Amino acid sequence: MVKFGIFLLFSSYVCLSDAQFSVHIEQNLRWDGFHRNMTYDITFILFSNEELPSKWPYPDCVIGLHQPLPAGIYANPDELNDLRRSHRLNAITKKTNIELPAEQSEPNMVYVVKKTATGKIRTWIPLHARYHRAVRFGGYVLNEIEAPKLFMRCPDEKLDNFKEPLTPAKILCTGDSKKCNWKEVPVFMNNKMPIKWHVPVGDLNHYYPVAVVTAAAVVIGSVFLILSIDEYKFVHDY
Ligand SMILES: *[C@@H]1O[C@H](CO)[C@@H](O)[C@H](O)[C@H]1NC(C)=O
Repeated sequence: MVKFGIFLLFSSYVCLSDAQFSVHIEQNLRWDGFHRNMTYDITFILFSNEELPSKWPYPDCVIGLHQPLPAGIYANPDELNDLRRSHRLNAITKKTNIELPAEQSEPNMVYVVKKTATGKIRTWIPLHARYHRAVRFGGYVLNEIEAPKLFMRCPDEKLDNFKEPLTPAKILCTGDSKKCNWKEVPVFMNNKMPIKWHVPVGDLNHYYPVAVVTAAAVVIGSVFLILSIDEYKFVHDY
């Protein structure tokens, strides 16, 4: 009986140590305009020298997706908080001033955490483009979004016995400031990277005539107003 137990332990250990995978990500930027939905379809493909495990071996693990963002793109921390509270998406980003134009902003990062319930995971991040200062002739600026990094964490040592060891990393567990031990998992991107997001820029050549006309309207309006107040006083003083 004891021997049989040891045999079972040993064989499951061999199985797990041989269950390795490659990870493939299809990343898409959906919708148009300044507010968009970045989606990730993450697929684990298991491979093994032995027989493939009959069921998904990582039901209790979590992935941490780290998406770097250029200065011109941001995720709204309040929006992410709302999504987290309503259990629709577990994502955080560093505090950022969402009012600032791209020129005064810093690159940022969004972290998404999700359980690996199956070998196919879909997740997303709501993203927004910052305004750019108007330039002569206007046009478009290009924001380039780099590939995400993928980290993984399991309650047991499931990720420790890989033939090519995964790189350890001590980073945020989830939303709070506590740190956990993760492993960085190499990924294959299925789509072309970086992802390009063109943002329209105001035209300074339009700005000056518009400003002049606006200023003129304000001045004429004010003069008209002062004159009519004077007239009113004149009528009522006598
Ligand atoms: C973005 O796309 C994902 C995946 O299709 C979807 O689950 C999510 O609800 C979308 N977000 C919004 C704000 O519509």
